[in-house]
Amino acid sequence: MKMDVLALFPEIIAPALQTGILKRIQDDGGLSVNVYNLRDWTTDKHKTVDDYPYGGGAGMILKPEPIFAAAETLNAESDAQFIFLTPQGIPLTQPMVEALSLETHLILICGRYKGVDERVREKIVTKEISIGDYVLSGGEIAALVILDAIARVLPGALGDFESAHEDSFSKDLLDHPHYTRPADYEGLKVPEVLLSGHHDNIKKWRYVEALKRTAQRRPDLLKELELTDEELAIVNKAK
Ligand code: ADE
Repeated sequence: MKMDVLALFPEIIAPALQTGILKRIQDDGGLSVNVYNLRDWTTDKHKTVDDYPYGGGAGMILKPEPIFAAAETLNAESDAQFIFLTPQGIPLTQPMVEALSLETHLILICGRYKGVDERVREKIVTKEISIGDYVLSGGEIAALVILDAIARVLPGALGDFESAHEDSFSKDLLDHPHYTRPADYEGLKVPEVLLSGHHDNIKKWRYVEALKRTAQRRPDLLKELELTDEELAIVNKAK
């Protein structure tokens, strides 16, 4: 998979590409990431990327020409999805991350200032994504969130492939609690069942805890599920 990022501050993104899963999956050839500076597609001496809004008002707008020029260069094979990062976009979810991970080429466009000339959205953007209901100073951090979330679901990203698909949200439930050694930390004990070696009981305990946790913290997620009477009883008790 190939991901290109078009940004005014590529230096925000570059260091994260050199660490952890993002680095490993690139080294292994599962992902190719390039981060570009939008100013490289300007044609004037001052490398101008923004201009005043028609109609007046505060804030500057990203000019269309450098973005169109960059889009043409980066999408030479013309099969890319153009994703614009904006708080006006569709809120990012794990199913969206998994769907995006199946694409061959994504071009992420990071907004800055007051926004981008609307014609960019009309002409090239195929999807607008928000990473949450708050406003960042630019799309770079949002692009990094998407890069990271996609990288970890690509085949070969995690040593244990299962763990990406068993964590919070992958089954529409939050994850169950986890413990490691010691079994007793100053009187705080690990639940007995986890020490029992009884795999069926452990599996059941984890499922019940995931249900309880979801009921307590994100009851909205349960609305999407068809729960059995037994599961409903657990949920109602946990609330
Ligand atoms: N740019 C600024 N805020 C953003 C957000 N919440 N999501 C995506 N891009 C953004």
